[in-house]
Parts: sequence; C-alpha cells; structure tokens
Amino acid sequence: MALIQHQFDTVIVGGGGAGLRAALALAESGVQVAVLSKLFPTRSHTVAAQGGIAAALGNVAEDKWIWHMYDTIKGSDFLGDQDAIEFMCKNAAKAIIELEHFGMPFDRLENGKIFQRPFGGMTKNFGESEISRTCAVADRTGHAMLHTLYQRNVKAKTEFFIEWYALDLIRNPAGDVLGVLALQIETGEIHLFQAKTTLLATGGAGRIFQASTNAYACTGDGLGMAARAGIPLQDMEFWQFHPTGVLHAGVLITEGVRGEGGYLVNSEGERFMERYAPTAKDLASRDVVSRASATEIKEGRGVGQDKNAVYLKLDHLGEDIIDQRLPGIREIAKTFANVDPVKDPIPVVPTCHYMMGGIPTNLNGQVVVPDGDGEKIINGLYAVGECACVSVHGANRLGSNSLLDLVVFGKQAGNHIAEFVKRNSAHQPLPADVGDATVQRVNRFFKAEGENMMQTRIDMRKTMQSHCGVFRFPDLLEKGVSEIDAIAKRVEHLVIKDKSKVFNTALVEALELDNMIEVAVATMHTAHHRKESRGAHAREDYELRDDKNWLTHSLYYKHGQKISYKAVRLKPLTVASFEPKARVY
Ligand code: FUM
Repeated sequence: MALIQHQFDTVIVGGGGAGLRAALALAESGVQVAVLSKLFPTRSHTVAAQGGIAAALGNVAEDKWIWHMYDTIKGSDFLGDQDAIEFMCKNAAKAIIELEHFGMPFDRLENGKIFQRPFGGMTKNFGESEISRTCAVADRTGHAMLHTLYQRNVKAKTEFFIEWYALDLIRNPAGDVLGVLALQIETGEIHLFQAKTTLLATGGAGRIFQASTNAYACTGDGLGMAARAGIPLQDMEFWQFHPTGVLHAGVLITEGVRGEGGYLVNSEGERFMERYAPTAKDLASRDVVSRASATEIKEGRGVGQDKNAVYLKLDHLGEDIIDQRLPGIREIAKTFANVDPVKDPIPVVPTCHYMMGGIPTNLNGQVVVPDGDGEKIINGLYAVGECACVSVHGANRLGSNSLLDLVVFGKQAGNHIAEFVKRNSAHQPLPADVGDATVQRVNRFFKAEGENMMQTRIDMRKTMQSHCGVFRFPDLLEKGVSEIDAIAKRVEHLVIKDKSKVFNTALVEALELDNMIEVAVATMHTAHHRKESRGAHAREDYELRDDKNWLTHSLYYKHGQKISYKAVRLKPLTVASFEPKARVY
C-alpha cells in the first residue's frame, strides 16, 4: 500500500531524556535526525524524575567513581553487567558538568558547587557509610534536565515530529532495521520513516500495573515494537517497586525525602527500617525497603483506616528545608494525600516505579541478540534509557542512577550512530511489502464486535498487580501466566466501534495496549520461570539468591514464548571484578 514517506539519517523514537541526549549528539555532529514523540517532548516521563542524578563529584565529601560502581553492582544484586556499570560510573562526573554547561540549574552548596544529597545504597568506601552523591535541582531534577536538553535540541535544529506515534520497526529479510512506521495522531495517517539507523528511547512500561508512579504514557512502546519484530526482551522479571508512592494515588514521593532525613514508621510509631537494615536503615536499596514496608503491612502494622500503608515522616526537617529542598513533595502531599508534611506524615505504599529489563544492548546502544553460541548486532537498531537493558541496573536499580543512564548512554549511542552514518552514505532498499502487516494490525480494531479496550486493560493491570508484585508466590505466578496469556488473546480481538465517532487517541490507546501486553506477558512468564530471589524478584518459595543456577540474564521471545538465558558480563573494562557476595545493608 502507498504510504507517505520520509527519509532521515536517523530516526529516534521518544523525546525523553535518553532520546533528547542522543538527538543532541547527532544534531551537533550534522546528522539529519528526526525525533518522533507521542507527547510534547517536555511532557515525557523524565520530567517526573524528582530526587536527582548520581555522580561521584565529591562536592560534600571525598568520593570515587569506583565506590559508585561497587554500590551499583551490589544494588543490582550482582546481575548488572560490570563493564557497562564501570562505563556509566566513570563517565558520570563528565555528564553532570556537561549538563551544567548546557544550563541545567542545579542547586548549589554554600561554596557554589553542585548540591548533592544521600540516596539509597550510595556509600563511601565500598559500603562503609552513606555518602551524598546525588546531584539535584530541589525535587524537580528531571524537569530541569528535560527542559535543558529540549532547549539545546531546538538550538541544534533537531527536527521534531510531535504527537506522532511509532507503530512498528521495518526490517528486511536479512534482519536489518530500516526505519519505522508511525501514525500522525492528528490526521490518523500512517507514514513511513526510512532511516539508516533507528534508536528506540521510549521509556518504561509501568502502566502494566494498577498502581504506578509512571505517567499514563509509559506503555512500553519500544518493547512492543521490538518483540513483534522478533527481538527478545531481557530480564523482564525485574520490576522496581518504589517504597514511597502516595497511597491510592501512586504519585511518587522522592527518595530524596529520606536522603534529607525523613523516615518510615509503622502503626506503632516504630522506625521499622532499623530492624530490616540496621546500617543503612531508610537508605537501604529500594527492593529492601519496599519488602520491609510490605511485610509491616502484611503483619498488621500498617497505618490508616485499612492498615494498608506506612507513614513517611518528615515534619522534623522543618518548614525551611522542606520548602527549599522538597517543595514539590509538599505540593504533592497536599494535593494527593490531603496532608501538609510540615505537620503530618504522608501515607505511602510500595508502588511500581521502574523496569530494570528491556531491549538488550551493548555499551554503544546497539541492539544485540543471541546467535548460535555467540551474539550478533542488529544492524541499524539502537535502544537507550529505560526501554533498553544494557544492563546497568541488573535486578534492582539504585535511585538516581536512571537519569545518569539516560545521559551517559544517550550520548554514547548518539556518537556511535554519527560514526555509522558517516560510513554508510546510502539508505538500504525497502522490502516490497513494507507496511502491510502494520496497516493490517491497525485496521483490525475497526469492526463491529470484539473485546472492550478499557476492560481488557483493567484486567491486565489487575492481574499484574495481584500476581506479580513485591512478593511473588508460586501459585499466583502459575495462575498469572494463564490469566495474562488469556488477556493477550483478548487483546488480539480489541474493537473500536464506529471509527467516525471517536478521536484518534482511542486508536493510540488500543495500540498502547498492544505494546503493554507484550511487556506484561514477558514479565509474568520470566518471573514464573526464575526459581530464586534476586533484587526486586522476591519469591516466597525460593527465598535465597542462587548464583550457581541463576546468575544469568533472561531473554524472552514473543514468538513461541521461548525463554533462554545468557551470561552476566562479570568482567569490567579496566578494574578487577566485584565477586558476588551476600548483600546486606
Ligand atoms: O525517588 C526518586 O526521586 C526517584 C529517583 C529515581 O528513581 O531515580
């Protein structure tokens, strides 16, 4: 079928922090780059990142990138790839200074240096004591970063396609990626973007769960596109539950609150983290704190009418610190919990926050898949940010490492693509049937009868929430697999009745569900399959980490629902490996 065609050197899908950092590197090196974004870029979910971005600047006390590297590996429960973690931590300080020079308005210490606060799992001298490593713009760091990067891109003349929804990757019979198909949301037309390289930077998929800190836009679009194109998804069983989502609303209350000295209490007024993590207490890693809160609630020491939350107490910090360092939190608490934290504690619960897994990549952001006994690079395809799995977060991400991941690997992928484009002057020919499957997939919604989109989405979220949460139980996982597979069948039969009477946004929501279900199915199957507890994957029937059998990355393939495993890269780039050991805080 004839589609409207565009041609670029590079197409980036997603206008959040990772996409914008890559776009900037490309536009500044003269590459013709298009950024496709379903939202206005500064509304991407990076805008919601609150507490900060980690780097061993040492502005508050001595710090070293190798301490940061150690903390990140330990935080990942040793599933993170040590070469990628070294690369990220070593490049962190440079990335922050670069952001500062771009104009990002970091908070300042008295001496004028960038302000840094403590965050969970970030320590001095390989776990000796907590350290202030997280650079912040009050509690609106992502907002400041995203606006800074967007403005730099405008200056660099990056071409934006705003409110365009990417649909599918274009692959030729050799498996090379030649661009994407995309829906112009305003007109409902499908266009073809031919490109020498395509970079997926579509962010997370936290909306597969009922309660999430994520924006409604976090629907795993890049993962759905990759899965449909036959690319496996890596480590999808690992989802981070942030300890402090506002009860019922899900909105994030930054870990920066605990970094500034706030702490959690149960119904008995007890600071319970002292029992679960005697050294780090409320600044243990997120998986540890979330399990502790869930346990307090399960054992009847929850707060509130239904005893289904714990309190986050920060009144002792005083109004001045709260207004200076945590102004957004005060607003959020008033709006969503009806409490003023200057006087009263905030009821919070562990809430789905971050996807550690994603599209498997190497350090340059190139998508890499198993091939016989080895691996191969998918020519022309890159992924960065939360949709990618490089893997720097392993089984549990440390807070404030995600903004860092976006800028370090966004820039690296941008630079790598720029070199690729220089070496490859021509676009590859498109397959004769390009777009046919996508047009069919989109048109299938428009019929008289079928499954209701909203109800199907509710059912998917309920299933994920109740079967694959903070703690995982064998019977629930077993049932979860059959339930989610049945919901996936229903998604195939979604209906949009009477096309002429609905906005194109109804079509986008249906297409988003096509993507979310791929993520949900991969998550449930891999969680069921992994018979150990590691990081955020805590099984009631296999309580311990099992390095002998499970120190491996999972790879889930949509076609055939196959799961395979591949080795963790335990060898860093230049320093000695950190051997797996017991993880205590
Ligand atoms: O708590 C927070 O501010 C979240 C930060 C993060 O997820 O990195």
